[in-house]
Formats: sequence, structure tokens, C-alpha cells
Amino acid sequence: MKIGITGATGHLGRLIVAKMKEKAATGDLVALVRSPQKAADLGIEAREADYDKPETLQRALDGIDTLLLISGSEVGKRAKQHQHIIDAAKQNGVQRIVYTSLLHADNTSVSLATEHRATEQALKASGIPHTNLRNGWYTENYTGSIPGALAGGAFIGSAGEGRISGATREDYAEAAVAVLTSEGHDGKVYELAGDEAFTLSEFAAELSRQTGREIPYKNLPEVEYAAALASFGIPEEMAKAIAGWDVSVSKGDLFDDSRQLSKLIGRPTTPLSVAVEDALKQAPKAG
Ligand SMILES: NC(=O)c1ccc[n+]([C@@H]2O[C@H](COP(=O)([O-])OP(=O)(O)OC[C@H]3O[C@@H](n4cnc5c(N)ncnc54)[C@H](OP(=O)(O)O)[C@@H]3O)[C@@H](O)[C@H]2O)c1
Repeated sequence: MKIGITGATGHLGRLIVAKMKEKAATGDLVALVRSPQKAADLGIEAREADYDKPETLQRALDGIDTLLLISGSEVGKRAKQHQHIIDAAKQNGVQRIVYTSLLHADNTSVSLATEHRATEQALKASGIPHTNLRNGWYTENYTGSIPGALAGGAFIGSAGEGRISGATREDYAEAAVAVLTSEGHDGKVYELAGDEAFTLSEFAAELSRQTGREIPYKNLPEVEYAAALASFGIPEEMAKAIAGWDVSVSKGDLFDDSRQLSKLIGRPTTPLSVAVEDALKQAPKAG
């Protein structure tokens, strides 16, 4: 029973591969990656599979029974890219696909949802039994900004008092592993989010508590936040998109209290305090 994992050289994919190696025979796992060289340290078979090159996908999916399709990272290109791999899966007789989608993909205002909706529709049209893991925001989306916040003396955003049910990549990775290694998930849609929701003011308060510094949350109008991100070197279009996602947060679109993630992984999701603590340990100089 071969399980193919796309995005295996990415942050989430690496965590999933490590956890899958504890649950399944190494010989049953295949990393489906843009660059097999980059996958050399994963310790499992690696095959070239570039979403933009359908011929590589055809070869890569040979003999794969279950496919974990980790959504790609090239925003704007993904609907087509994901269609390529779904088509290749169909032609290769893949029996099951697990897809990492977006929380409330069917009705969220988050701009990213368009591509996830298209992929969920493509999966449905393929007729291949599948499961949609609609992942909420990674807590790392915020802990990643800690060094900048400490340097600038404030945590900035446009999320207002919107509550974010964030969970760590580790939590989402465990959910993917739980679904890949057990039965009864075909046709299901899981809305995955953290047990605990936080506003960015609460995030900044936790950061202040742990660092002993006063780091306030400064809420900015969307245009000003986008301009600030661009001034840090983020390309203008991406800066605008990120600011827009914060506006979606302000509307409550990243909130979910169904606790489906903790039910799937059989433990509470990682608390914000632990995620902040881990991030500060990893960037000690920033503290
Ligand atoms: N829920 C959230 O908060 C959140 C945040 C960020 C991203 N995401 C989504 O979740 C996915 C996984 O997150 P992550 O943190 O692991 O992101 P990541 O580290 O950027 O990993 C993305 C993976 O997609 C692969 N990829 C990109 N374009 C590809 C292509 N044309 N063909 C084949 N593979 C391609 C990358 O390959 P390389 O290793 O070769 O670069 C990488 O392995 C992201 O791609 C994105 O769709 C969700």
C-alpha cells in the first residue's frame, strides 16, 4: 500500500513524513517533490513531481495507492497545478486522496479560498474517494513575526479584535497522519483549527508576558499595514494579500470552535503560550 506525499520538502510535509515513518513501513512512503536532491535527507523514496510538469506527475504516481496532496505555495497558479496532479492520479488509478484545504473554504472571505474551492471541486469531479483537511491558520504565521515585533517594539496587523483559532503545523501534521493511517475518512470534510482562539492583542500580551517587554498590538488600516509589509521587503502584491487576510481575520473568518482537530489527533492542540515559548527558544537573540 504505497502512500505518496507531495510538498514533502516543505515545512508541513517534512513533519508529516517524520510522523508517517513512525506509523508505516518506510518502503511504503514516497516523497513526491520538485527536487529529489532536496528530499535526500527524508529517508524515503523520492520521485520528481512538479505540479507544473504533468509528465513528471504521470511517472511519479505509478503504483501510488493513497495520495496526500499538500496544497502548493504558488498563489494564483494552484488551481491549475492541483488539477494536473488530480488528472494524473485518475490516470494512475490512485484510490484515495487527502487534500490540505483551507478552513471554511466554501464560505470564507479569505482570498486564498478561491483556489482551494476549485481543487475541492476538481476532486469531486474526479470521482476518486477523497478527504478535505480544511486547515486553519498556522500559529507560526504569527510566531514568525516575533523577531520583527521585538525589533520594532510593536506587533502590527489589520486583524482588529478578530479571533484566530490557530494551531501549529505539528498539530495539522498529526491530523494528516491520523487520516492517512486509519479508515473511514473518505467523503469527509474536516474543519481543522486550534482549541484556543486568540486575538492579536492577546498574542502581543502573551509575547510581552514571556519577554518581560511591553509589546503592544497596533491595529492599522489595511492600506497602511500593506505598505508597512512592503517596506519590510515583501513584494507589493503579496503585502496587499496578507493585509487582506488580516481583514478576513477581523471578520471572524479564521475562528472555529468545533474542535475537530483535537478530536482527530486525540490530544488538545498546542496552546498559544507553548507556541510563543518555542518560537522564543528558536530565536533567542530576538528576545
Ligand atoms: N494554514 C496556513 O496558515 C498556511 C500557511 C502557509 C501555507 N499554507 C498552505 O499549506 C501548504 C503547506 O504549508 P508549508 O508551511 O509546508 O509551506 P511550504 O514550506 O512553503 O511548502 C510548500 C511545498 O509545496 C511545494 N511546491 C510548491 N510549488 C510546487 C510545484 N510547482 N510542484 C511541486 N511542489 C511544489 C514546495 O516544494 P519545494 O520544497 O521544492 O519548495 C514545498 O515543499 C502551503 O504550500 C500552502 O498551500 C497554509
